[in-house]
Amino acid sequence: MKISIINGPNLNLVGLREPEIYGHNSLNSYLEELVFQFEDIEFYFFQSNIEGEIIDEIQKQGFIVDAIIINAGAYTHTSIAIADALKSVPVKHIIEVHLSNVYAREIYRQQSFIAPVCKGVISGFGLTSYKLAIQYLLEIQ
Ligand code: DQA
Repeated sequence: MKISIINGPNLNLVGLREPEIYGHNSLNSYLEELVFQFEDIEFYFFQSNIEGEIIDEIQKQGFIVDAIIINAGAYTHTSIAIADALKSVPVKHIIEVHLSNVYAREIYRQQSFIAPVCKGVISGFGLTSYKLAIQYLLEIQ
């Protein structure tokens, strides 16, 4: 199975950024661990702070992979363009993830333009949110 994990703005700073919300571990080292834990999965990792680059990656991977796991960061709450990109590709499964529980935070984080395009949303389990998404994909295979 091929899985693309796409991360949006400021997620490169997880581990340093607001650790009381996002934890002390870096996203990169967590994603590296996933490669060892799920040897049979072909992962494609991508992070960008730029909306257009995220759209380009969705347009590229969305024709190649079996699933996209996306944490669009703050673009989740603003980007119709990312939602449109996800709608434009034939990828079978799209899962939205968040480290924090966006429903327990500011009201503006409770709206997602991306969620309606996704199979489901996993929010609030820290970096484990990514693993939960992978486990779902393995189970329904
Ligand atoms: C986030 C939640 C977003 O509201 C926020 O803008 C982020 C991170 C999360 O993973 O909890 O950058 O996507």
